[in-house]
Amino acid sequence: MQSPRATFLGSAASPDQFPKNGPPEVAFLGRSNVGKSSLLNRLAGVKGLARVSSEPGRTRLVNFFRVGEDLCLSDLPGYGYARVPEAMRRGWERLVESYLEGREALALCVFLVDARHDPSSGDETLSGYLEHRRLPYLLVATKADKLGRGELSQRLGQLREGIGRAAIEVAAVSSKTGAGVDGLWRAIRAAVKSHRERRHVAR
Ligand code: GTP
Ligand code: MG
Repeated sequence: MQSPRATFLGSAASPDQFPKNGPPEVAFLGRSNVGKSSLLNRLAGVKGLARVSSEPGRTRLVNFFRVGEDLCLSDLPGYGYARVPEAMRRGWERLVESYLEGREALALCVFLVDARHDPSSGDETLSGYLEHRRLPYLLVATKADKLGRGELSQRLGQLREGIGRAAIEVAAVSSKTGAGVDGLWRAIRAAVKSHRERRHVAR
C-alpha cells in the first residue's frame, strides 16, 4: 500500500506534460542503472513508488512524486545506456534538458554516480552543465554497500576534486542498507530551505 505521505503525481514524455509548478522540486539525475529510482523510494520510504529494474534504461519518462506537503521529487531518465536507438536517446536528452532549463520549481538536483566506477563521459557532461547553469546540486555516490570504507573515502575525495567540485555536498549512500540516507535528507532539506529564502529575497 502506498504511504499517504508520498504519492505518484504523473509521468511526462514531453515538456507540455510536466505538471504545474508546485512546491520546491528535487530532481534525481544520473546514468542509467545508477540507482535513481531506488534512492527515491528509500527517501520517500515507499518500496515500489518509483520503478526499479536491473535492466538499464527502465525510466523513460520524467516521473513526478509528491512527498509530504512541501516537496516534490522528479525521477529523470538515465543517460549512457548504449542499447537504445539514437533518435530515442536524443529525445530523452531533450526532455531532460528542457526540464533543467525551464522548470521553475526546481530547487535542487541530486546527481548520482556509482561509487564503484570512475565518472563516465556523460557524468562529466552533466557536471559541466550543472556548473555552467549554476544549478545547485548534491553529488551522491550510490551503491556504497559494495565498497569497503577505505575505498569509499578515497572515491569521495576524487569526486570532491572532480565532478563534484561545484556541488553543495558530496556524500555516499546505499539504498540497500539505508546508509547515508538520513544525512541526504538533511542536505536536501537544507538546500530546499535556502532555495526558498533566495526566491523570497529575489521577489
Ligand atoms: P534507470 O531507470 O534505468 O535510469 O535506472 P535507475 O538509475 O533508476 O536505477 P534503479 O534504481 O532502477 O537501480 C538499478 C539497479 O541497481 C537495480 O538492480 C537496483 O536493485 C540496484 N541498486 C540500486 N541502488 C543500490 C544500492 O544502493 N546498492 C545495491 N547493492 N544495489 C542497488
Ligand atoms: Mg529509474
